[in-house]
Amino acid sequence: VDDDDMQFIKMHEHVSDLFHHILMHTNEGSEALNYLIERGFSSELLKKEKIGLAPKMSSFTKNAILEKGFTEEAAYSAGLLSRNETNFSYYDRFVNRIMIPIKNHQNYIVGFTARSLDGSEPKYLNTPETKVFQKRHLMFNLSDARKSIRTQDEIILMEGHLDVLKVKSLNIENIVGLMGTALSEENISLLNRLASNVTLMFDGDGAGQRATVDIGETLLKHGLNTFVIQLPGGMDPDEYIESSGEESFRYLVKNEKRHYIHFLAEKLLNESMHNDLAFSQNINTLTDLLTYVNDDAIRTRLILHISERYGMEKSQIESKLPVRTSQKR
Ligand code: UTP
Ligand code: MN
Ligand code: MN
Ligand code: MN
Ligand code: MN
Repeated sequence: VDDDDMQFIKMHEHVSDLFHHILMHTNEGSEALNYLIERGFSSELLKKEKIGLAPKMSSFTKNAILEKGFTEEAAYSAGLLSRNETNFSYYDRFVNRIMIPIKNHQNYIVGFTARSLDGSEPKYLNTPETKVFQKRHLMFNLSDARKSIRTQDEIILMEGHLDVLKVKSLNIENIVGLMGTALSEENISLLNRLASNVTLMFDGDGAGQRATVDIGETLLKHGLNTFVIQLPGGMDPDEYIESSGEESFRYLVKNEKRHYIHFLAEKLLNESMHNDLAFSQNINTLTDLLTYVNDDAIRTRLILHISERYGMEKSQIESKLPVRTSQKR
């Protein structure tokens, strides 16, 4: 963290305070506040996370920044202002949006994800890449989750920022959010350093399921014990909590955690039963993945599961695995 970084951070801390005040204590904020309260985000949570509102004004942030003695150029470099490329005037990047601060791993606010309130696209507008906001290095909520991740040796990974915050309000602490649905090499090595176990709890819709398949495979192949919690009915964690309740959600987290290969075997089962070519390919996919499972007990259990579901002898599956020596891997 050098002087420039610290200036970017100070600007973010300053405007976050203003946005938060507008949301919580002004008439202009009342509609957005009601929206959030209706969605089950308590004012305690909004305060703790410093959630705010960027008002419907084109120069609110710009004026606040100038008043505080920063320059427009600096605020532009920090991603708080946009620039008109024909006359080089500056205007607010975030207008009429719910502002969710994103903290870096040292717990400083370095950017925002900002949800539109009037249906305008994109639904979420994020801080662009800056010197202090590099998405490939960041994971949402990591600075708060770190301690709990260490004690539980497990990271629960979600796609939505509001999902992370809603679950956090149930005192489940080892949750982090992806910045978008891409997982960077830096994210992977960070996850690897933090814990041995990662649980994916992405949205239950098509996009979330595809991300589960892709990211799960990547994590498994990078040596993490990878598990999946699937949400029913295409819901995301927040929707599930609102519709089915906190206890039901806790039950899922505690009892419905499948190994990634178990999840994938179930997902590929139907097609495998009706398409013999797919059966053969899918068995090969699953057995290839089994070579990345380091825990003998889990591997044995997965082989049993696949053999039962796919109607094969355990020995047939084992014979497809590379010969294992008695040496420690
Ligand atoms: P979702 O569309 O599932 O949003 O996108 P959500 O988190 O459930 O939001 P609500 O409940 O409708 O308010 C999942 C994640 O994908 C990224 C965001 O990180 C979002 O949380 N995303 C989505 C974007 O970055 N931009 C978008 O326009 C949409
Ligand atoms: Mn790699
Ligand atoms: Mn989604
Ligand atoms: Mn949602
Ligand atoms: Mn969602």
